[in-house]
Amino acid sequence: MSAALGRLDTLPRVHLGHAPTPIDEMANLARAFDGLTLYVKRDDCTGLAIGGNKVRQLEFYMGEAQAQGADTILITGARQSNFVRLAAAAARVLGMDCHIQLEERVPRDDPLYRESGNVLLDRLLGATLHTYPQGEDEAGADKQLETLADDLKSKGRNPYVIHLAPGHKPLGALGYVVAARELANQIREQALPVDSIVVASGSGNTHAGLLFGLRALGVAIAVHGVCVRRPADQQHARIAARCHEIAGLLGIANPVSDADVRLDDAFLAPGYGQLNDAATDAIARAARTEALLLDPVYTGKVMAGFLHQASQAAPGQTLLFWHTGGTPALFAYADDLVPGQG
Ligand SMILES: Cc1ncc(COP(=O)(O)O)c(C=O)c1O
Repeated sequence: MSAALGRLDTLPRVHLGHAPTPIDEMANLARAFDGLTLYVKRDDCTGLAIGGNKVRQLEFYMGEAQAQGADTILITGARQSNFVRLAAAAARVLGMDCHIQLEERVPRDDPLYRESGNVLLDRLLGATLHTYPQGEDEAGADKQLETLADDLKSKGRNPYVIHLAPGHKPLGALGYVVAARELANQIREQALPVDSIVVASGSGNTHAGLLFGLRALGVAIAVHGVCVRRPADQQHARIAARCHEIAGLLGIANPVSDADVRLDDAFLAPGYGQLNDAATDAIARAARTEALLLDPVYTGKVMAGFLHQASQAAPGQTLLFWHTGGTPALFAYADDLVPGQG
């Protein structure tokens, strides 16, 4: 099976997470949808420091960092970024330091948002925190990381930068090519007749890696990306470019056609990291039917998209919701989720 994935198993990688993650049936939630079977892929259970999708992605970034003899990781992200929290955790496990740059990407200045949730964990993990005054300037955020890296080099350190902007190797997407192989194996072994998958589409590494991996393995399940960061037209170009880059990294032909990139941005408003009614309702519904804890930035919006898909699906269909984690941010948005309880 792996020959279809080219160089995947020869690229530098460290094992950081628990895998395979379970696939659970959501029988309570399915009661509202006649004739549908609903599953959840539990990538919130990847183990490292409260888990999430970024654990799989970091296995490849940290593999390259280790191969280069790095002693310090630099990463940038929104204040409540799960990626930076998990980079700090991965660095600790591998005996490295981590510098985190927190961007002003979400228009909030309440203490809960600024210091609770992932920020609390960043501090607990002993990361060095920096700030960047913008949230829509990926290239500028990377440039400041490079300046920090140069400063560390001048002090004798060997830093490794995990870039945010396109134009760098999307090593993180390889974690989701691995996840696609894992899912294909689970589907075969457990005889799960999955028709479509609904997953977050942010940086695009999860969506592109999963779609690419499934198609490279000859699996035709529809993959629906729910936009959490930018509108569908912009995200479409990003996913298509990512798939092209993954093909280059693996040394195989790109099996993903443009038409195969499906995106829904109906649940993005008012913007990245800002809740809407559909996502707030979806978070409560998942908790109260399946005791699934989603998050306000990513998986809440994805569940809103999943519920919409389910409402449109023909009887007999099987849908899989990909839970990518994000749990710590629940605490940073407590006032929005359960108003007046603070
Ligand atoms: C919990 C969670 N889900 C989904 C995503 C989106 O994943 P990607 O950036 O690979 O598109 C992120 C990104 O940070 C995340 O933290």
